[in-house]
Amino acid sequence: MAKVEDVNRSVLAGQLLAFYDREGRPLPWRGERDLYRLWVSEVLLQQTGVSTVLAYYPRFLERFPDVWRLAEATEEAVLVVWQGLGYYQRARHLHRAAQIVVEQMAGRLPEDLASWLALPGIGPSTAAAILAIGRDQPHTILDGNVKRVLARLLALPHPLSSRLALDALWTFARSLTPSHRPGDYAQAIMDLGATVCTRSRPTCPRCPWQGACRAYRLGDVTAFPVTKPRPIKPHRVQWAVLVFDARQAVLLCQRPAQGLLGGLWEPPTFDWTVKDRLPLEPADIAQTIFQRLNLSTTPPVPLAPVQHTFTHFHLTVYPFVCHWEGEGPVNGEGCRKGRWVAREEWHTLPLATLHRKVLAVLGSSHHTPLTTLD
Ligand code: ADE
Repeated sequence: MAKVEDVNRSVLAGQLLAFYDREGRPLPWRGERDLYRLWVSEVLLQQTGVSTVLAYYPRFLERFPDVWRLAEATEEAVLVVWQGLGYYQRARHLHRAAQIVVEQMAGRLPEDLASWLALPGIGPSTAAAILAIGRDQPHTILDGNVKRVLARLLALPHPLSSRLALDALWTFARSLTPSHRPGDYAQAIMDLGATVCTRSRPTCPRCPWQGACRAYRLGDVTAFPVTKPRPIKPHRVQWAVLVFDARQAVLLCQRPAQGLLGGLWEPPTFDWTVKDRLPLEPADIAQTIFQRLNLSTTPPVPLAPVQHTFTHFHLTVYPFVCHWEGEGPVNGEGCRKGRWVAREEWHTLPLATLHRKVLAVLGSSHHTPLTTLD
């Protein structure tokens, strides 16, 4: 694990506590000893910023001033007070946990970490914060803000989602937690992350840990925590046929309602698979058109390929243009719901950008339908 070898851990804790004494925010749950009230504040703070919590906290406590009043309420009544906060599972868990405390613990809130952790909706950081702040027990917090602070202090080279990073951060966070004033230390490190060591605009000159911070020394604080490299997008290949009928209308097919580009229209399009040859041979294309669309066409002529990028993959489409001497419905399994559409009508159907690009190739190509007839 990475180490901050050159700085004494108790010095770090002392610097942070001095910062907290000078600049700690006067929040309503600071100095609170009532575990119920602390519990409510920590659950509210799990996914919500302090400024929003400040509005909900007194409202919640006024409506449900103790664990008994919360336990006897209906879930609906709890959700009404929670309205607008989001992450409603938190409220359901809080309510259920209050019922467990009343039914199984005679309404007495736990005084140890393991019992808190056994309640619904309580993770390690929430349990630690309640007991550190309310009972001054030396438990370690590692919520999102604290992870960022410590990842910067260490210049941790692993993304926070990795097991390696989490193990390293828990170990480091535990080693920093002091036995002296652990409650204040817990609030101080959360404050530091929320007010100084912020995600995109840290104010390092205000930071009590600036001198020890490796990310600061590297000159690029916001490069930490490092983010996971984006997965490489796979590249897929398809080919599409622009088949014109005797009236110079082009065949478009509607995609199934479900899935990518659901319900949109496209020229008949087929996946290139590894067993197909590349470059695609016009004779193979003609054969597939016959098999999948039930159409005997002129030999397909290749047009310029079209590139497109979707959220999860890159796509190259090789378009071919050909002509069918007939008129009328198409019934092949390669085009379940098809329509012959005159050029003037293309804009009346929903087409994806990709397929607009494919159709646009026609305009920029020497191979107009008529020349393919020549
Ligand atoms: N985030 C989670 N718990 C907090 C607390 N007690 N103070 C400030 N921010 C927090």
